[in-house]
Amino acid sequence: MEIETKKLQQLKQLRNEMTRFMMTYKFGLDEMNTKLQILKEEFQHIHDYNPIEHMKSRLKSPESILNKIYQKNIELSLDSIKENIRDIAGIRIVCSFISDIYKVSEMIEQQEDVTVINIKDYINKPKPNGYQSLHLLLSIPVFLSDRVEQVFVEIQIRTVAMDFWASLEHKIYYKYNKEVPDDLTKELKYAANVASELDYRMEKLHSEIKSIKDDNDEENLSVLQLNNEKFHLPSMFLESLLKDQK
Ligand code: GTP
Ligand code: MG
Repeated sequence: MEIETKKLQQLKQLRNEMTRFMMTYKFGLDEMNTKLQILKEEFQHIHDYNPIEHMKSRLKSPESILNKIYQKNIELSLDSIKENIRDIAGIRIVCSFISDIYKVSEMIEQQEDVTVINIKDYINKPKPNGYQSLHLLLSIPVFLSDRVEQVFVEIQIRTVAMDFWASLEHKIYYKYNKEVPDDLTKELKYAANVASELDYRMEKLHSEIKSIKDDNDEENLSVLQLNNEKFHLPSMFLESLLKDQK
């Protein structure tokens, strides 16, 4: 009876420790999501367009953590899990254009309390199957009541086309239990090339449209400076305002 109670207590303690462990990752995600939301809104304000199409964050489930421990033969302790499984907290950022991926990545890297552990550029160098994305492994401090805990956060940044391809490839990979037939592998590789081609064409169109818009703005807008604030107003409107003043 006494042994049973002791075991029960041990289990309860383990459960508490595990919950606390997972909570730090959740806080890490919350913190990173706030950072990203701020960067997104600030960017939108300055550049008048939104570099982030959408974002999604997830905590790895205890089941997937256990599977990874088994697959990678990781020692069963919280310290070892923390050190060896670095994608417990994950965020996927989907952008419209390739150039936005690098802009977003740079903004993240520049944050003072963010430490970049490594960057894998699968856009410059796609995986052999065609997979493309920019992966950042970060470490960020989480401020708890009695200590500061560093947690790893994995960020994947990709375009809509890369995301579309990756989700289909993921489905196929698991449908065939990781042994995809050759012809499907070839088709997927071909589709990845088509997606990449689309990304480059869209990027080109985007920069052409942007330079036309900038020229138009320059022609049609004038700057009115009041105190320290600048207002961009249609030239015609500004002229009429000034005329009324005279
Ligand atoms: P893991 O131990 O599986 O996390 O791999 P890794 O440490 O080699 O990391 P890597 O940065 O290469 O990949 C991490 C994550 O990127 C994966 O968990 C997937 O979400 C995604 N990923 C990487 N390669 C592929 C791929 O070929 N197809 C798809 N659909 N996703 C991929
Ligand atoms: Mg992973």
